[in-house]
Amino acid sequence: MKLFDVYPLYNVTPVSAKGIVVTDDKGQKYLDFYGGHAVISIGHSHPHYVRRIKEQLDHIGFYSNAVQNPLQLELAAKIGELSGCEDYNLFLCNSGAEANENALKLASFHNGKTRVIAFKNGFHGRTSAAVATTDNEKINAPLNKQQKTTILPFDDIDAFKAEIVKDDVCSVIIETIQGVGGLDEPSAEFFKNVAELCKENGVVLIADEVQSGYGRSGKFFAFQHYNIKPDIITIAKGMGNGFPVGGVLIQEEIKASFGLLGTTFGGNHLACAASLAVLEVIHDEQLIKNAANLYTYFVEKAAEIPAVKRVKGKGLMLGLEFDFEVAELRKKLIHNQFMFTGGAKDKHVLRVLPALNITKENLDTFFTALKAEL
Ligand SMILES: Cc1ncc(COP(=O)(O)O)c(C=O)c1O
Repeated sequence: MKLFDVYPLYNVTPVSAKGIVVTDDKGQKYLDFYGGHAVISIGHSHPHYVRRIKEQLDHIGFYSNAVQNPLQLELAAKIGELSGCEDYNLFLCNSGAEANENALKLASFHNGKTRVIAFKNGFHGRTSAAVATTDNEKINAPLNKQQKTTILPFDDIDAFKAEIVKDDVCSVIIETIQGVGGLDEPSAEFFKNVAELCKENGVVLIADEVQSGYGRSGKFFAFQHYNIKPDIITIAKGMGNGFPVGGVLIQEEIKASFGLLGTTFGGNHLACAASLAVLEVIHDEQLIKNAANLYTYFVEKAAEIPAVKRVKGKGLMLGLEFDFEVAELRKKLIHNQFMFTGGAKDKHVLRVLPALNITKENLDTFFTALKAEL
């Protein structure tokens, strides 16, 4: 059997990884400024993470959601404590798309409505309801096009007001900082207005923090830069540091009932152990503070490079905007400098999404390599 050929691949075969270093099958070491697409939050193979998962495996790796699992309660309490979102309830699943799929369904169960407002260049995953909120024709099958979705631009509050008052609007889904799109963010004022208008009109506000959450923006959640309170928050990527896990944080007034949501694998013992290990490291090593501090350093270093038009993003969810397309530059960084970086839908943006425990020295190395290739 061959593989279903959907990924254009770089010719690199990683076989081990530690911290920010990924080693391939020929022994070549690469510096990982991509974090496997914003997934590696505490560094590859962090010793505490490895130990906790191994210990869990020695006890029990999986049982279904039909029995008590105290690790889920511990995880919910820890996310609440570290994020300050104690007054939410947690539903555990396996990926970012699944988290958003459940969030969109939940909103519709809650208010009985059907239409979703989403934003231009957003990305919320590839399951049915989630993919329908994406304005990328290529990834929407005819089946997905049946869903009622309205895609609006950021920062056009009049267009938003005109839609939100229509009585079929169920939810608004928004990436606080756009990932795949290329690090665009709406203004603080737009965010505030969106949150207020959702409340006024009985529309559920879903913050997609799949990429921007878990400390990557320099706060636990990126929406916390704006002093708003979404009704539902979705998480995944950095949550498991590579272990497939996702979650939906749900405000108290959205009520649960038996059978409303469900999953076979979500919240299993191993996934909880991995997620707890990540939170313990984030807390003990003060990684959110590190992400916030390194942002300032990154901006200073980027200012030394005339070709950089703009630094986009927050914390360690970053983009460098150039006035040329960056595909060739990314190839050079991999093959000449042995460095992974990310691309975006906006082809002029080079994405930098490293583990949250990188250092100033790592950033110095990154900028030296970048200068050499420009
Ligand atoms: C903001 C955002 N939401 C959802 C997803 C989908 O997550 P997953 O690939 O885990 O389904 C992604 C993935 O890139 C994302 O960046």
